[in-house]
Amino acid sequence: MSISTVAVIGGGTMGNGIAHVCAQNGCTVYLIEMSQALLDRAVGTITKNLDRQVSKGKLSEEDKAATLGRIKGTLKIEDVKNADIVIEAIVENEAVKKELFFKIDALAKPEAILASNTSTISITQIAAATKRANKFIGMHFMNPVPMMQLVEIIRGLATDDATHEATVKFAEALGKTPITVNDFPGFVSNRILMPMINEAVYCLMEGVGEAEAIDGVMKLGMNHPMGPLALADLIGLDVCLAIMEVLHRDLGDSKYRPCPLLKKYVAAGYLGRKNGRGFYDYAK
Ligand code: NAI
Repeated sequence: MSISTVAVIGGGTMGNGIAHVCAQNGCTVYLIEMSQALLDRAVGTITKNLDRQVSKGKLSEEDKAATLGRIKGTLKIEDVKNADIVIEAIVENEAVKKELFFKIDALAKPEAILASNTSTISITQIAAATKRANKFIGMHFMNPVPMMQLVEIIRGLATDDATHEATVKFAEALGKTPITVNDFPGFVSNRILMPMINEAVYCLMEGVGEAEAIDGVMKLGMNHPMGPLALADLIGLDVCLAIMEVLHRDLGDSKYRPCPLLKKYVAAGYLGRKNGRGFYDYAK
């Protein structure tokens, strides 16, 4: 099955990047959001990121205009009916994702692939909310989507070979490198990354080091391009907490308990870069 039309649900941190990359690689994209203001913000972010590519000489003005021309912002979930693949990038909450996919399943073409960009929620469980679990797959893009090479592809228990092959080919057509893993909490990426971030937050809470010191040690000593606390701010502290909660609950091991300081920051509304305040202050 060839994929030329994509519906992306949610235009936040990940959804706008996914829409950007799909449109830049020739797909027609229906970008579906909850309000006009959120849609405008998503398209504004895509435009700003395309402008950056133009200023670096990586994209022509014509290609920028063509990319934007392929993105159709909409508030109507019914527009999924046009798509060969639906990629969901809404809030990391299992009940909310299941409810959305129940609706999408009834609206999308019977042959359409349904994909979730979830960081950690079971693909098998979300798929069970639909009548096409064989056509359901995890397509876990990395943040920031236009920059990052990997797409972690997650096969649910029922995902069939045709769906897997079509999704791998589609990721390659987007210029990405797909790596396939199986469906376990956190998959591979967040099973390894998130406990490290959580441990960095414990180091901060226990006064082992200041944020700059913790990040500095990991950057200069371990050659990480970004320290774990700065990375948490980029990902979103609410997203990090949601991932730790799934790892803790579904793997049932106390080593995955979310750090109380992470919980406190999220409760205070410190969500990271997306709202200007996380472990670092971005208002300055
Ligand atoms: P976000 O909070 O930045 O964006 C979510 C967007 O979805 C919001 O703009 C919201 O208005 C919209 N939305 C919510 N319900 C909707 C609905 N029913 N219909 C249409 N739009 C709806 O969240 P973010 O960070 O983009 O995360 C999205 C998903 O991607 C989550 O499942 C998250 O775990 C996953 N993810 C996040 C990464 C990150 O670094 N932030 C990395 C990889 C995956």
